[in-house]
Amino acid sequence: MNVLHDLGEARRWLDEERRRGHRLGFVPTMGSLHDGHRSLLRRAAATSDVSVASIFVNPLQFGPDEDLDSYPRSLETDLAMARDERIDGVIVPSTEAMYPEPMKTLVRVEQLSTGLESLSRPTHFDGVTTVVAKLFNLVGPCSAFFGEKDYQQLAQIRRMVSDLSFPVEVIGCPTVREPDGLALSSRNAYLDGPQRAAATVLSRALTAGIEMIAGGESSPAAVEQVMAATVRHEPLAELDYAAVRDPATLDELDTIADRVRLLIAARIDTTRLIDNADGRHSLGEYSDET
Ligand code: PAJ
Repeated sequence: MNVLHDLGEARRWLDEERRRGHRLGFVPTMGSLHDGHRSLLRRAAATSDVSVASIFVNPLQFGPDEDLDSYPRSLETDLAMARDERIDGVIVPSTEAMYPEPMKTLVRVEQLSTGLESLSRPTHFDGVTTVVAKLFNLVGPCSAFFGEKDYQQLAQIRRMVSDLSFPVEVIGCPTVREPDGLALSSRNAYLDGPQRAAATVLSRALTAGIEMIAGGESSPAAVEQVMAATVRHEPLAELDYAAVRDPATLDELDTIADRVRLLIAARIDTTRLIDNADGRHSLGEYSDET
């Protein structure tokens, strides 16, 4: 497996692979890889001629009070997982290589980058779409694999690719969960025993919403209230938002008629967790509505 710290070297390698007619599969990550990332790596390796991942903790997407410095880093085990999944190359750029100068150009997806996550992380998505645009320009034409776990991120990347004509096919992959429903996340490492037990409240709230919709409830506000009440019953959790939205635009809905996405965010002590689900399927069932 190629481990590439130099961006020029990465570009030359990938250009050469494409020249040979190889189709590229790309998995961007911030490292600290878990089985959620593993599912993306596996899919990229299985469906592409040449698979490449990137590991870069992107300062641009962290707010001033966020966990950039303490964000978990585990390069050696990450590379071992990529090797295990038969990834052909991992790009590990330094911050200086990615941002040799302070950025004066940002990529922002209007509307999709407001509300939900942006209420508490106002600059986060500009940092995400900007770094993903840079990575796409580095890797070039490819299929790129993203998790539904970060649903608002996935929606924005799809829209950016379409609006700016990136030669990239975006592939959304289902959320990988612990047996008790907790969505895998690098930030789960911050949770102690009681907090870890409380963290299942997010998936429990989603399930409560899904069951209401299955029972015929058509009022978004009623579903949001039940999701919120589920979180309020958990003493260690503090609700950020519980939302019922259009799956493509993330707009609010007047009524639940057809396809619907449930999104939730809560803080367990200082750890902020997010989750989401297709409102028409129980958790774990495959959905491909993005
Ligand atoms: P990171 O949080 O490392 O996630 C990398 C990819 O793994 C994202 O597409 C994310 O949605 C996916 N992922 C995380 N948890 C998952 C789970 N439980 N099941 C399935 N997929 C999961 O997201 C980022 O990094 C960054 O914002 C990035 C896109 C790399 C830009 O910096």
